[in-house]
Amino acid sequence: MKYFVTGSAGFIGYHLAERLLAAGHAVTGYDGITPYYDPRLKAERHARLARHAAFTPVVAMLEDRPALDRAIDDAAPDIIVHLAAQPGVRYSLDFPEAYASSNVVGSLHVLEAARRVRPRHLLLASSSSIYGMLEDLPWREGDSTDQPASLYAATKKSMELMAHAYAHLHDVPTTAFRFFTVYGPWGRPDMALFRFFEAIAAGRPIELYGNGEMRRDFTYVDDLVEAVLRLADASPSHDAPPVAGDTLSPIAPFRVVNIGSGRPVGLIEFVEVIERIVGRPVARRLLPMQPGDVPVTFAASDLLEALTGYRPATPLADGVRRFADWYAEYGQNLTSRDKAR
Ligand code: NAD
Ligand code: UGA
Repeated sequence: MKYFVTGSAGFIGYHLAERLLAAGHAVTGYDGITPYYDPRLKAERHARLARHAAFTPVVAMLEDRPALDRAIDDAAPDIIVHLAAQPGVRYSLDFPEAYASSNVVGSLHVLEAARRVRPRHLLLASSSSIYGMLEDLPWREGDSTDQPASLYAATKKSMELMAHAYAHLHDVPTTAFRFFTVYGPWGRPDMALFRFFEAIAAGRPIELYGNGEMRRDFTYVDDLVEAVLRLADASPSHDAPPVAGDTLSPIAPFRVVNIGSGRPVGLIEFVEVIERIVGRPVARRLLPMQPGDVPVTFAASDLLEALTGYRPATPLADGVRRFADWYAEYGQNLTSRDKAR
């Protein structure tokens, strides 16, 4: 099949595109290689994808509507997976425009393009952050998401709402998945795991927000990609047999699905896993909770399982070890590249 993946130079888009290409699909990857974090890491992910003949990279912004339209027309995709976004919860306090631009305007352009090319299925990346500080755990897709605690979350919720309206008006089957703190090799340098390994390598203490008392439903990236691929085959339709706990809209071929491991882990426990892997204690600096953060995230995975027969299962220690192995190799490469410059 022909896939159009936005955010293909990003952490999750890279892993998804690798899996699709390995399975024999054609992938057009669309990414503006934004400077939010080291663009060399993004360029390197794209370069690795470009080893596959069936990969077509397009480097352009979502906001550049003619470029996006051209790329989608050329690709004539069966499936669109929209992952490109300005991510990060805490950064949205200081740089709100990037979120409105990429996540609202950019997503609108993807919806407009999908309306025209009519893929079999449009899939969009939303976020666990839209549950805000809901106290009833685990979070189910039908729970209220009307109290976002960060602008990032508010823009992801806006994208879900726009996508629902478009699915209703234009009848494009659409799934919005809510990802929960994804981690793994080729990960994001702004996220906790990468930052902790960087601090350890530099001999600095790691910074633990919320005095280490927060909990996250860490999800291993390969598990997430498996779930996305299975959901791509589970196009929302009113003709399909009903599924327990479904969020299928009564007026549109649209649903939301959590993708999380369903096993929240405290940050202290997370650090203890890292300590066992690096084989030594890690110095910690305890800091208050950061504005925009929420104390806990916890996904109910029942709908994902009902739709796909799958639930994420990689143990945290295995996933962190795979990140550590990659980081050791990547860190060395980065150092030698820097020396060569
Ligand atoms: P990432 O930053 O690694 O990837 C996003 C990619 O989108 C980047 O390569 C960036 O260059 C590109 N991009 C950003 N704005 C763009 C624009 N306006 N035009 C074109 N390209 C643009 O992030 P990721 O972790 O791979 O996240 C992928 C998606 O999943 C995002 O939508 C994110 O909000 C969502 N998400 C991620 C997590 C997580 O834990 N990683 C959790 C919940 C949701
Ligand atoms: C992650 C992604 O960054 C968001 O883009 C995404 O939308 C969100 O998951 C989600 O689940 O929807 P976050 O959970 O903040 O957000 O991910 P990390 O940056 O890896 O942080 C994990 C936890 O560690 C958080 O509680 C954070 O406050 C904490 N942290 C982070 C630290 O204690 N120290 C740090 O240096 C960084």
